[in-house]
Amino acid sequence: MKPINVGLLGIGTVGGGTFTVLKRNQEEISRRTGRKIVVKMIADRDLAKAKSLADNDIIVTDDGYQVVNNPDIDIVVELIGGNTIAKDLILKAIENGKHVVTANKAMLAMHGTEIFAAAREKGTVVAFEAAVAGGIPIIKAIRESLTANRIEWAAGIINGTANFILSEMREKGQPFSAVLEQATELGYAELDPTFDIEGIDAAHKITLMAAIAFGIPVQFDKVYHEGITKLTGEDIRYAEELGYRIKLLGITKRTEQGIELRVHPTLIPAQQLLANVEGVMNAIVVKGDAVGETLYYGAGAGAEPTASSVIADLVDITRIQTADPIHRVPVLAFQPDLLLDTPVIPMEDVVTAYYLRLCVVDKPGVLADITRTLADSKISIKAMVQKESSADSDQVNLILLTNLTVEKNMNAAIASIEKLSIVAGKVTRIRLEELTN
Ligand code: NDP
Ligand code: HSE
Repeated sequence: MKPINVGLLGIGTVGGGTFTVLKRNQEEISRRTGRKIVVKMIADRDLAKAKSLADNDIIVTDDGYQVVNNPDIDIVVELIGGNTIAKDLILKAIENGKHVVTANKAMLAMHGTEIFAAAREKGTVVAFEAAVAGGIPIIKAIRESLTANRIEWAAGIINGTANFILSEMREKGQPFSAVLEQATELGYAELDPTFDIEGIDAAHKITLMAAIAFGIPVQFDKVYHEGITKLTGEDIRYAEELGYRIKLLGITKRTEQGIELRVHPTLIPAQQLLANVEGVMNAIVVKGDAVGETLYYGAGAGAEPTASSVIADLVDITRIQTADPIHRVPVLAFQPDLLLDTPVIPMEDVVTAYYLRLCVVDKPGVLADITRTLADSKISIKAMVQKESSADSDQVNLILLTNLTVEKNMNAAIASIEKLSIVAGKVTRIRLEELTN
């Protein structure tokens, strides 16, 4: 059978990994697909780098449009990243009737609706396994393997860089900036690493997961996201002492009011499997009504783990090349004309528990003032610890864990607490999830 011709856009970390793994495992992959998958063209703006990697029979260019306009190319693999040229190249490839594989979660989270509609019109596939959690086959798992279930919630560590930073800070007491530099050197971080540390990359990913879990449109503008830049070693240590660990979690949940869609640092019980996922590893728990909780674990970033997902998509598309579009698995898991308009809940209506750290003056009546203020906002306290002050200070750290409460009540309580004369500075608030139902 005629080989499937692939055009590779971008031969950086993931593009390079994809090229290497395809070449190394070509024979094994052909035995699975029944035909060869061949990289026929590579486009990278660094022509010298691309030429040094490519074999002689591969056409190398610095112009991606030569790839997407080449009639010999069956599948375009977009691994440039970003929202500008990558989007234009993908739309052009689709217009030319080509299937597309991409790892570009930023672009899909923001422009997925337009891109998937264009592909549907042309009868082509846009596959994106590598866009969420690197090497973990989470898209296929939710879209296909859990298809019998009404998904209730999914929560996971879906940014390798942030998890790597939190692990290194907790285990080795390393400073934030040094670890971020390391993650960048290792090829984990995004071109703009603020995407990793501010929770934006995880927000892109949870947007895509929510779409396929609940059959709702891709709506990045509705995600609440908060990153790890304000976390201190102190909070990491106190959480630990209370039996919790802090992880940057992406959470999406079906509730009676709508869909929760959020990314933020979260205290989770230290004995939970998720709490023990370290370094660049990712893990996601998905709860379905029939199957219960399922857990997916693996490398969330890096050249070859991500290539593993890119190539899985290439193999899938190769297998369905001749299938009528109507008989293919819908890219977003649900039939495109049957998506729901279930609202995404505003963050202030989300219900969760909280860790609070307050710096207070160490004198009688302080605890009463704090607990009264919380009670005024209908917030009940689950645990409270006072950390000893240094000998020359009249201030102490007060750590509180609360029971479940609605976010807007917590916002009101924090605003009132910060006005109390016995409280110094801002209240640190970290959300807490037991992840048990
Ligand atoms: P890299 O920056 O390592 O690779 C991108 C490559 O594209 C570079 O070689 C770059 O060249 C090239 N490029 C940039 N602009 C153009 C252009 N206009 N035309 C042709 N080539 C161009 O990024 P990654 O491989 O890390 O990421 C690629 C995509 O994969 C992104 O969407 C990212 O979010 C996603 N992803 C990355 C993961 C990872 O672990 N790194 C994991 C999962 C997804 P130059 O070097 O000169 O800039
Ligand atoms: N920068 C991303 C991460 C790459 O660290 O998880 C994988 O999507």
